[in-house]
Amino acid sequence: MESIVVRGGRKLSGEVIIDGAKNSALPLIAATLLAENGCSRLDNVPDLRDINTIIRLLEGMGAVISRQGGRLEITTSVVGNCQAPYELVKTMRASILVLGPLMARFGEARVSLPGGCAIGARPVNLHIKGLEMMGARISVEHGYIIGQAGRLKGADINFDVTTVTGTENLMMAAVLADGVTVLRNAAREPEIVDLASFLRKMGAQIEGDGTHTITITGVEKLLAADYQVMPDRIEAGTFMVAAGISDGDVVIKNAPLAAMAAVVTKLQEIGLLIEPLSPEEDDDDELHEDNGLLAGVAVRVRRGLDGLKALDVRTMPYPGFPTDMQSQAMVLLTLAEGTSVISETIFENRFMHVFELQRMGADIEVEGRTAIVRGVAALSGAPVMASDLRASAGLVLAGLAAEGETVMSRVYHLDRGYAGFEKKLKALGADIKRVEEN
Ligand code: EPU
Repeated sequence: MESIVVRGGRKLSGEVIIDGAKNSALPLIAATLLAENGCSRLDNVPDLRDINTIIRLLEGMGAVISRQGGRLEITTSVVGNCQAPYELVKTMRASILVLGPLMARFGEARVSLPGGCAIGARPVNLHIKGLEMMGARISVEHGYIIGQAGRLKGADINFDVTTVTGTENLMMAAVLADGVTVLRNAAREPEIVDLASFLRKMGAQIEGDGTHTITITGVEKLLAADYQVMPDRIEAGTFMVAAGISDGDVVIKNAPLAAMAAVVTKLQEIGLLIEPLSPEEDDDDELHEDNGLLAGVAVRVRRGLDGLKALDVRTMPYPGFPTDMQSQAMVLLTLAEGTSVISETIFENRFMHVFELQRMGADIEVEGRTAIVRGVAALSGAPVMASDLRASAGLVLAGLAAEGETVMSRVYHLDRGYAGFEKKLKALGADIKRVEEN
């Protein structure tokens, strides 16, 4: 097993380029299952463990996939096996995203029910309920969701809880259904807009993505299409914190700034200067696409003269502050002046990093879903253990600012969602390396 070793105290500087969004690429790859013929080409796909998992999942179904750098070419006309086995689903819950497309195109699916998760219970009852409302017969047998249907039927579905992958799954189920489906209290995340844009390129009729009410009119068939994955707003936010916590000066390129308002506002209030570069200064034209919310831009990030100030953070569905940035914001606030209150409203157990940060000298108290963070003058390096993807990013960020050496084990969590994280940080001047554990 590998560890990341970081010696804190270096001010980061230079440029970093943000990769494609993991949480967009996963549903986009699942959506290629809907194409009856042709080869879909996805660009800007990040090189991540979770992407490898979904590729293996589709290949197991018979899809033919080739990969060159950030481009994936996927042919799904030959898919014949509608199964998602436990061995893959247990390593990545987002595997559930194949359920909607399989039910839509083939009227059958056998998908392992995801088990427990480190950050919360994370049930998929709303995915199942929605499919049942569309006419599917669903049972759970031997740990598998077994779905059967003729052609799915359009339905009026109201989500009790806003769910990102639930909205994506039912949107993909509805595109080939008979009639109109209305998804109410739908998630509004930019990744949903990205998925809807791709589905429209495949021939789907979707309106209202990005709002709480999405209307989908089913069509007879979808065809393969070419698409570019939006940049990763969580990776961009993580590098903003890296610049701020190290007291550095970093240009972050291909950051989807329009999709990051809540994060940018909070980080600015904490004390970071976040300034978009003018198009003349932003020389990477290739990465620009004229698609508003989903476009990447270059932004300069450093710490303001007044230092870091305490602030309250409450995680919420988009457009609120994302739970996937909670640990990173917390790490920044451990070094801010004053007391911050962080409320985690999405997942019931997403404070595992707190106990590791305490070992690094942070002053944090947890009461239920609230963490009270009292700023300290400095953190000190320590051996720490990653518990989930975003927690691991937070611990590396803490290591950048800590005195001495931090050794983070269980790096595989980080590799699920950050492409070459330590390489990008090293290129910005961090003293960081990956080592093989004994
Ligand atoms: N929920 C239900 N029933 C359901 C579905 C969800 O009760 O059927 C609850 C969950 O338990 C949770 C809340 O609804 O309390 C929201 O969960 P959601 O379904 O939105 O989460 P998700 O779709 O499983 C995605 C991201 C997560 C991100 C969350 C919240 C992907 C592949 N994953 O998960 O990303 O934290 O939305 O924004 O898009 C990560 O990248 O590190 C990550 C965990």
